[in-house]
Amino acid sequence: IMCNQIRGKNDDDQLPHYHFLNDHDLQKLQKKHTNLSIIERSYTEHILSVIRDVQTDIVDFRKNADRLIRILIEQAISQIEKKKHIKQSPLGYYDAHELKFQDEEICFVSILRSGNAFLIEALKVMTGASIGQILIQRNEETSQPSYFFQKLPQNIKDQQVILVDPMLATGGSASMAINILKHHGVKEENITFLTLVSCEQGLSKLFSEYPKIKIITAQVDPILLKDINYLAPGIGDFGDRYFGTV
Ligand code: URA
Repeated sequence: IMCNQIRGKNDDDQLPHYHFLNDHDLQKLQKKHTNLSIIERSYTEHILSVIRDVQTDIVDFRKNADRLIRILIEQAISQIEKKKHIKQSPLGYYDAHELKFQDEEICFVSILRSGNAFLIEALKVMTGASIGQILIQRNEETSQPSYFFQKLPQNIKDQQVILVDPMLATGGSASMAINILKHHGVKEENITFLTLVSCEQGLSKLFSEYPKIKIITAQVDPILLKDINYLAPGIGDFGDRYFGTV
């Protein structure tokens, strides 16, 4: 449906109007980064349109963010290796394709604080998965990420790791988190990074440093705003909106 009227836009409004990457740009990006998956637009465009909206309240924000998080988690699971065996339905036999790994062999690693928004949906899907947490915060003066805290399972090097952070801006925090995982013996090829909204700069940084990881994102924003390192049009501060600390 074409929508000519922009809700909330006034004639004297000086805010910029951002335009998303077109199909050609997206195809080019996916060609460049073969381990990048962008969720098909039709699954996400309504949900993302709601959560980007500055007027969306916390109830609708959480409801829609959780839906999008669930889609990313299901996409990550769809890429995990399956084993084929024969099972029986009430009517006969069929070829079953089930995950090669038990829940216990999967670890969700949250980059605090915003990554914790993924945990509710993650545990609904994989109730037996382990949860690791890494606290990395950006130093307001230097703009560089600093490491504060980690708690990871002892056997993480043998697990499939799903690293989660809703926004990928410069890639500084995610890069530091992956480095920590590698120091714990996790193989790059066993790491999948899930992020709701990303940008080309962050994607390029992560894939150049860690070419074997997989990244799944719902949308690639066109702009990374200098100085504040926010994505545009973006969502704003995801953690503040999801956790109600605005
Ligand atoms: N973190 C956020 O919450 N928003 C951004 O746009 C970038 C990083």
